[in-house]
Amino acid sequence: MVKPRTRTTKPTLAKRGDQNGRATHAAHAAPGNGAVPVTSAASVAHPLDPLTPDEMAQAAACCRDRHRSPQLRFVSIALREPAKADVTAHVPGAAVTRRAFAVAIDRADGTVFEAVVDLTANRIDSWSTVPGAQPSPTFDEYGDADRVIRSDRRWRAALRRRGLTDLDNVQIDPWPAGNFGDPNEQGRRILRGIAYVRDERASNGYARPIEGVVAVVDLNERRVIELIDEGDTPVPAADIRYDAAAQPALRDDLRPLEIHQPEGVSFTLAGHLLRWQRWQMRVSHHPREGLVIHALGYEDGGRLRSISHRMSLSEMVVPYGDPSPGQYFKNAFDSGEIGLGRLTSSLTLGCDCLGEIVYLDGWACDPFGQPQRIANAICVHEEDFNLLWRHHDGHSESTEVRRSRRLVVSSWATVGNYDYGFFWYFYEDGSIEHEIKLTGIIQTMAVKDGETPPTADLVARNLAGPIHQHFFCVRMDLDIDGAANTVSEVETRPLPAGPENPYDNAFEAVVTPIRSEAESGRSVHSPTARHWRIANPARTNAVGQAVAYALFPGETADMMAGEASSVAKRAAFARKQLWVTREAPDELYAAGAYPSQTTGGDGIPSFISGNRLLEQQDVVLWYVIGTSHIVRPEDFPVTPVHRSGFALRPWGFFDTNPALDVAPPVAGCACAPGECVHGH
Ligand code: CO
Repeated sequence: MVKPRTRTTKPTLAKRGDQNGRATHAAHAAPGNGAVPVTSAASVAHPLDPLTPDEMAQAAACCRDRHRSPQLRFVSIALREPAKADVTAHVPGAAVTRRAFAVAIDRADGTVFEAVVDLTANRIDSWSTVPGAQPSPTFDEYGDADRVIRSDRRWRAALRRRGLTDLDNVQIDPWPAGNFGDPNEQGRRILRGIAYVRDERASNGYARPIEGVVAVVDLNERRVIELIDEGDTPVPAADIRYDAAAQPALRDDLRPLEIHQPEGVSFTLAGHLLRWQRWQMRVSHHPREGLVIHALGYEDGGRLRSISHRMSLSEMVVPYGDPSPGQYFKNAFDSGEIGLGRLTSSLTLGCDCLGEIVYLDGWACDPFGQPQRIANAICVHEEDFNLLWRHHDGHSESTEVRRSRRLVVSSWATVGNYDYGFFWYFYEDGSIEHEIKLTGIIQTMAVKDGETPPTADLVARNLAGPIHQHFFCVRMDLDIDGAANTVSEVETRPLPAGPENPYDNAFEAVVTPIRSEAESGRSVHSPTARHWRIANPARTNAVGQAVAYALFPGETADMMAGEASSVAKRAAFARKQLWVTREAPDELYAAGAYPSQTTGGDGIPSFISGNRLLEQQDVVLWYVIGTSHIVRPEDFPVTPVHRSGFALRPWGFFDTNPALDVAPPVAGCACAPGECVHGH
């Protein structure tokens, strides 16, 4: 326990306020009073609100008091979310006990710490070391890795051997090391650095990879422990750029398309509480997961019906399929190994987002525990999305048309070469969709004239893109009209021909409950239209069915890496499309809290090992989006956005089409018999 202390937050920080302009700095209002209570709780509106910058700084100060090492660095500081029961019991305006969860590393010896800080009491609740864990490198560790590689004699010699002398123009990309059993790497904190040539600042390094040179860096010892220098493939000659300035001409045949909402947006954002039509949810940014949707519900008949307690990206992994020395280790877990949330992009109106936009900021700490603002981290807006429903009745010559408006909550993150967009869509018929947008630049490899490895495809002269896959595991704590839910697998199956099926046309939907975690781990199967239904058997609709939502797969992929491979063991979650577990607050990350350099077994395999029963329980769904990326020339020098996702649709959750009361946007969209004048 640390003694109470006055705030040490820099004055500049106090000017910022939180993302919604609420006063979060009430404690500063009593100048010169050393006894000012340090808690920020009074100004926090809801127990699920992310840490304010002051709270982040306070948590860091508590940790530094507990472990007084000048080399203590922070990997992440985030809200320690209260238990679900405490969130449910929370009364608006009531005091909230705020806790922070911090991960830190003492760079003097590589010891990793986890701390839970009680911000209300200003004390450390728990402080523990995590032997063997390798959290995401801090930004100063990345800086050190870059420096030690550049000054390594062997690395410089390897580049000189390839005719490269101007080393200032070399871009070094640090890669998570993985674990391929090399005894020299065990117990160390390592990165693998690969390099690219950039002629000038605006160059595209990925056009000119330096093939076969990999520097293995020990981050604790701050030195290159091994230099791989394989082959004699030349660096590709052409700097192939995607920036506007580098294009010979730009199109000039588009006329303005403007999106205006003259009366303003139809949603409200109060703090983190977002309400639109009958939807409501809490939207926040997490330094690891990025965009998080909490407390999602739908107002129906004067009652807020719950749908999900929490939805976020749990983990993602990108395994590459080329076995060469410069490529085989590429399988980044962009969330757990790199910390995708802290890499969230600041979005720009008119570029990233178009129309009437409301933004939320995000916050993530720097290595020293200082809160760093990510301005415009989350974009909230409405979109016209073509038709919601329509019908023309030929008998009465009447037509009813409704346009679909959707609420979009999104964010972007750039992780090295790739850019990922995370989009949640909410529709007026109760549907939800999640879409991940993949763009940015492919990984590249240099190839010799006339050569194409079987595991890569040419995208330019002497340049190939290795085949790879992207897996995204979305964790959803669904609470369909209450927490006690049953998940079932649904398939269409033909009925046997016979007296009951004399025309052999009959088929049915077979609904099979997933009774325990051991039965979880489900694969898609398109011939039977396999999908999953999440029902609350305690609540029935007007026709006596259990109210439910159904989860429909979109694009998926089976992992190609062999079962015994390092990545298959470490990313066991990606070997199936759906896992179901019992809700447990510590089970957030599908590959474990610290997937770097592990040999596997953490995350999903560990969560399901107890084989907990699942029927009518508080369940969590882990759905895995997958895409196999066979690289094409059009993916270079920058990849057009590829979309991949899934849908959640109400399935007997409502008694009827819930969007009958959506108003026709103009009178002509609802015309009584004989009145249609618009060509309907
Ligand atoms: Co790709």
